[in-house]
Amino acid sequence: MKIREFGVEIWMNEYENNCDYNLAETCVESLTFDQLVTMAGKKDSFADDLLAMKLTYGAIEGSDRLRDNIASLYTEQKRENTIVTHGAIGANALIHETLVNPGDRIISVLPTYQQHYSIPESYGADVQILSLREENAFLPDLEELASLVNDNTKMIVLNNPNNPTGSLMDADFLLKIVEIARSCDAYILCDEVYRGIDQSGDGTTVSIADLYEKGISTSSMSKAFSLAGLRLGWIVAPEEVIHQVAIHRDYNTISVGMINDYLACMALENRETILGRSKSMTRENLALLDAWIQDEPKVSYIKPQSGTTTLLKFDVPMNSRDFCVALLKAKGVMFTPGSALDMEGYVRIGFANNPEVMAVGLKLVSEFLTEI
Ligand SMILES: Cc1ncc(COP(=O)(O)O)c(C=O)c1O
Repeated sequence: MKIREFGVEIWMNEYENNCDYNLAETCVESLTFDQLVTMAGKKDSFADDLLAMKLTYGAIEGSDRLRDNIASLYTEQKRENTIVTHGAIGANALIHETLVNPGDRIISVLPTYQQHYSIPESYGADVQILSLREENAFLPDLEELASLVNDNTKMIVLNNPNNPTGSLMDADFLLKIVEIARSCDAYILCDEVYRGIDQSGDGTTVSIADLYEKGISTSSMSKAFSLAGLRLGWIVAPEEVIHQVAIHRDYNTISVGMINDYLACMALENRETILGRSKSMTRENLALLDAWIQDEPKVSYIKPQSGTTTLLKFDVPMNSRDFCVALLKAKGVMFTPGSALDMEGYVRIGFANNPEVMAVGLKLVSEFLTEI
């Protein structure tokens, strides 16, 4: 089976560990073990729990405690609607592997995580791209979506909040997409890995799983929960989809690891504290980025409404990759070129990492812009 190279992963593998100021990171700055157990008030007791743990495969589909915690992130879901996966990347891959057949029409937004169009393409699906454009604040054009669906449409793939643009669809907008999906009985897969860190309100937008009887939500501990090292994600979906996924999952996962399961429970049971930190960081860092952009005549953007990333437009006579490589070489500052995301003309910044790194990094970018 042939598949396109995963552009953003290749870029990250090449440069992530060779830069001084990483402004390409998409996770809210990851927590140390110490920070996690301290935030959870478990510093004195976690070692006893771990020492007593017999390291079997554990609960195959995730412990009941973990699956109940995951279900409680949604309003309409039970344990039976959940299954634990190797990160959101594993969750997405399993959904595509389980539901997509050759010839099925799959409509995916772009830009998004490349899995969502390259995997179904590799399965021989009829993949149609729903472009998110700057003039629509990077939200889907609903008329265009309506024109793309047909009776053969198996799934519409969304990403809310969106990586890389930071755009956010609210409940009313999502319900209009649900109406279109219902008209052709299609699933909606919504990659919600950045859910919980909106720039306003309580920070959490409604999930597609709670809005639509054929809605599938994928998410993980990596981004808003700052625990990518756990490699723990999940699928929330109608029970019959979970059963079909479990059949495929038996061939590639077994289980996710008891220690990861235990730590994810700890984090989810202390979600107010962890998401509180994440919301403060993303809101404060975006204010810093916004102030920098207002002062930089060569940079413009559509201000993100959520997530950890956004697309910047640089008024420079270079393509995005040449610009990013030259910036890295000259100043040690790392962005992600739009070309790695099938979005030439833009550069992606992650604004949820360490604020000092971002402040120094942006200053160096300003210097670079005066030198080229
Ligand atoms: C939209 C999106 N989905 C999924 C993933 C994979 O996340 P995880 O670390 O949970 O596997 C990423 C990571 O960058 C992402 O941006």
